Amino acid sequence: MVQRMIWNQTAYFGPGAITVIPDELARRGFTKAFVVSDKVLVDSGVTGRVTSLLDGAGFPYEVYSDIVPNPPIENVQTGVRAFAESGADVLIGIGGGSPQDTCKAIGIITANPEFADVRSLEGVAATKNPSVPIVAVPTTAGTASETTINYVITDVAEKRKFVCVDPHDIPVLAVVDPEMMSSAPRSLKVATGLDALTHAIEGYTTAGAFELSDMFHLKAIQMIAKALPKAADGDPEAADEMAMAQYIAGMGYSNVGLGLVHGMAHPLGGFYSAPHGVANGILLAPVMAYNAAYTGEKLRDIAAAFGIAEAYTMSLDDARRAAVDAVAKLTRDLGNPTTLREVGATEEDIPALAAAALADVCTGGNPRTATLAEIEELYRSVF
Ligand SMILES: NC(=O)c1ccc[n+]([C@@H]2O[C@H](COP(=O)([O-])OP(=O)(O)OC[C@H]3O[C@@H](n4cnc5c(N)ncnc54)[C@H](O)[C@@H]3O)[C@@H](O)[C@H]2O)c1
Ligand SMILES: [Fe+2]
Repeated sequence: MVQRMIWNQTAYFGPGAITVIPDELARRGFTKAFVVSDKVLVDSGVTGRVTSLLDGAGFPYEVYSDIVPNPPIENVQTGVRAFAESGADVLIGIGGGSPQDTCKAIGIITANPEFADVRSLEGVAATKNPSVPIVAVPTTAGTASETTINYVITDVAEKRKFVCVDPHDIPVLAVVDPEMMSSAPRSLKVATGLDALTHAIEGYTTAGAFELSDMFHLKAIQMIAKALPKAADGDPEAADEMAMAQYIAGMGYSNVGLGLVHGMAHPLGGFYSAPHGVANGILLAPVMAYNAAYTGEKLRDIAAAFGIAEAYTMSLDDARRAAVDAVAKLTRDLGNPTTLREVGATEEDIPALAAAALADVCTGGNPRTATLAEIEELYRSVF
């Protein structure tokens, strides 16, 4: 079987990594940057850590920060116009998944204007040209958007989030600097960390997984299980590990797909603007239990990655239960919500949520083929 892997051309890691950006821009011959970020990050000085380096190097730039979480189509279209007016030749995405994903959509549409409606980019779009070159600087340890070929945009009118999958959007340069993430409040570290854990676990058990992606996902699960609780409480070494672990998970899942947790989490973002990681955290353990019988020995490996010493000597059923319990316990201990009610869901919406989840691009990667009725039942089980 033919397999494909797509990663960044170049990536830097570690505290202080952002200092390489001016030289990298000059070396690549760029002349002006269009910085895509959000208001919270601009006001709190996080974006300024990078723009002050550009100031110091005399590198021209413009900042576009009109982006909200679960970014809507309008944020992309306004950004496309602003980019065209700026005269810039490189994009720098500074933020969590929302600015990163908006940045990718701006770069793709600028290079492929026939997709200016944005909606037509859903799924695997037939773009012809690579995005305007993107430098991606994540400020959350979660989405790994800096190394994925995906971006997620919200259609507010239709109350739905849609996933776009396009190798043309891969950032040419990723700069994963944990100091850019340190100002995140605890709840954001928890939510984005659970997003990363979901990427690693769904990527490990997804239908398209193979040895190379398994290698990334298993390592990421080990690292996140150990580091996330400490990172959430502000331990700097654990935060460095989380920054790396979420990127490692991204190298895997971007290339092989996800599953029903993401398929069911996206409608919660579309309907109630639920933070993406919070929604994943609610659904991860229940969906793992639902999938367990369709995952071979893989939940045994996950139990071992969570430090369960008897994982390889207990029965397969017990090992699968142990993996699900370990994930459920971590989610509870971190204080992530565990019910849909807590993100504002109403019971009457469940049939519509389930229909949206069934149609989501990520659902096709689930190891167990889910029916509409089963998805409704899963939503009800965590209502
Ligand atoms: N492209 C992909 O492959 C991919 C993968 C998973 C999720 N996503 C998408 O990414 C989005 C979620 O991204 P996210 O979870 O990183 O959050 P986000 O970008 O939506 O940010 C959430 C909030 O946290 C704030 N914030 C971000 N970094 C901060 C920091 N260092 N200090 C203080 N505040 C900070 C932001 O200003 C914002 O208010 C969703 O739309 C999701 O669907 C994309
Ligand atoms: Fe995610």
